[in-house]
Amino acid sequence: MEVSITSQDLNDWNGNVLVIGVLEERVNQEIMFLDKLINSELLKKKLEDKSFTGKSGQKVHFQFNNTSPEKIVLVGLGRPEELSLDSIREATCVGVKQSLGYSGILGISFPWDAFIPSSAAKTVGEACHLVTFKDNRFKSDPEKKVFPEKIELINLNKDTKLAINELNSICKGVELARYLVGAPPNILTPSQLAEEAINISKEFNIRVKILDKDQCKKKSMGAFLAVAKGSDLEPKFIHLTYSPKGEIKKRVVLIGKGLTFDSGGYNLKVGASQIEKMKYDMGGSAAVIGAARSIAQLKPSFIEVHFLVAACENMVNGSAMHPGDIITASNGKTIEVNNTDAEGRLTLADALVYGCELEPDAIIDLATLTGACVIALGDEIAGLWTENQELSEQITTAAANTGEGIWRMPMQNSYKEGLKSLFADIQNTGPRAGGSITAALFLKEFVNPSIPWAHIDIAGTCWTEKNRGINPPGATGYGVRTLVEWIYNLSKSFEDLDNQ
Ligand code: BES
Ligand code: MG
Ligand code: ZN
Repeated sequence: MEVSITSQDLNDWNGNVLVIGVLEERVNQEIMFLDKLINSELLKKKLEDKSFTGKSGQKVHFQFNNTSPEKIVLVGLGRPEELSLDSIREATCVGVKQSLGYSGILGISFPWDAFIPSSAAKTVGEACHLVTFKDNRFKSDPEKKVFPEKIELINLNKDTKLAINELNSICKGVELARYLVGAPPNILTPSQLAEEAINISKEFNIRVKILDKDQCKKKSMGAFLAVAKGSDLEPKFIHLTYSPKGEIKKRVVLIGKGLTFDSGGYNLKVGASQIEKMKYDMGGSAAVIGAARSIAQLKPSFIEVHFLVAACENMVNGSAMHPGDIITASNGKTIEVNNTDAEGRLTLADALVYGCELEPDAIIDLATLTGACVIALGDEIAGLWTENQELSEQITTAAANTGEGIWRMPMQNSYKEGLKSLFADIQNTGPRAGGSITAALFLKEFVNPSIPWAHIDIAGTCWTEKNRGINPPGATGYGVRTLVEWIYNLSKSFEDLDNQ
């Protein structure tokens, strides 16, 4: 699928399926316009019969014989004063699904002028790519779904061309993340995840370093290695670096939880804990590696980005962690493992220490960390923990622009009481109540307090059972777009300064 823009007027457009966004109070204008386009009095009548009012989520379509377009879809955009990027994202999903079964060219016409046209074009183009995504890798005879090969955003001028290039790179990153999360744990092993990072490094010429078990031992990563002990598969610590050409104004670190499978260890996942879904416990690393692909291709100026993943499996065998083990992380802190299923935070502890040693200006980690976060916020909203107001605002703005749900949660320092251990410096699990907050507080123990840091719990958002907006059932690729947007915004803030 290729998204492009055309400055052509709607009346002159020649393609196969035409999607037109209609505002609630502008239906009559659109009817007149359509009448001109199809040149048929009948159409007007038909449209009136269908009582289409342009309410958000409404749709109506018309099929014609031997005409161009062959099908016209009207999609309601809701009330003009409520028009947002979210409304055109949703309307795109509705419209594109209506083009199923058609090949050729799909045209989309929205009231671009109500937005910064390039943002609107980017939003719509992204939605086109992401809503038609299908992971057919593991089917021997996949059901073929035909969608138009080309999508044209109608009546946009050339200034938006740049946004179109950007969105293709961003979607490639999201798709990579979806493929990584969707791959089963017998295929996507820690070594395979490292291979994916190596592939990006080769394709886009960025630096990669993979630390094996012995190298991690040398760095005293006792928490990460303790989790990996119960698996036959070797852990891998992945470090990709994007360095821009020219001056570096900021260095940032992105860390993703990379459990290619989480059985729970000896605190085995039983009952309704969905052990069979735990291939998606590397959703954080998928977001980070997906973002690495996008950033490496987009090459933003001024920002150096480090992508870190401590990849392993949480399994059971004779050398696996025991519940009750006391282990030592790379910053020297001792941890009593009172629950082996709280393994993600152990791997992240050593990754955070490593990240801080790079002396960055900011760190963000993404992790499918707690079931408690899913209970609190459901599967459309990720939890955000940070004590840095500026970073919080930057991340919330980036997420809002991309339509990825996020909500800031409290870093309730008094709950640290729940992590007190009789024997070690800290234990890895607190009480059930407020479980996603104690998880964030545990991570905080491994972050240099002078470095702005944010933790995003994506346990709910990295996967969807339902077909939801731009997300078909399965892996969502959550986080890639927000991370790329965040880095882009940082980069642009320096460009703007440069131009002053
Ligand atoms: N990977 C899980 C968290 C998870 C749960 C992700 C559900 C996606 C959906 C994590 O390693 C885990 O097991 N967390 C435990 C922590 C508990 C033992 C304190 C949890 O949330 O139950
Ligand atoms: Mg677990
Ligand atoms: Zn886990």
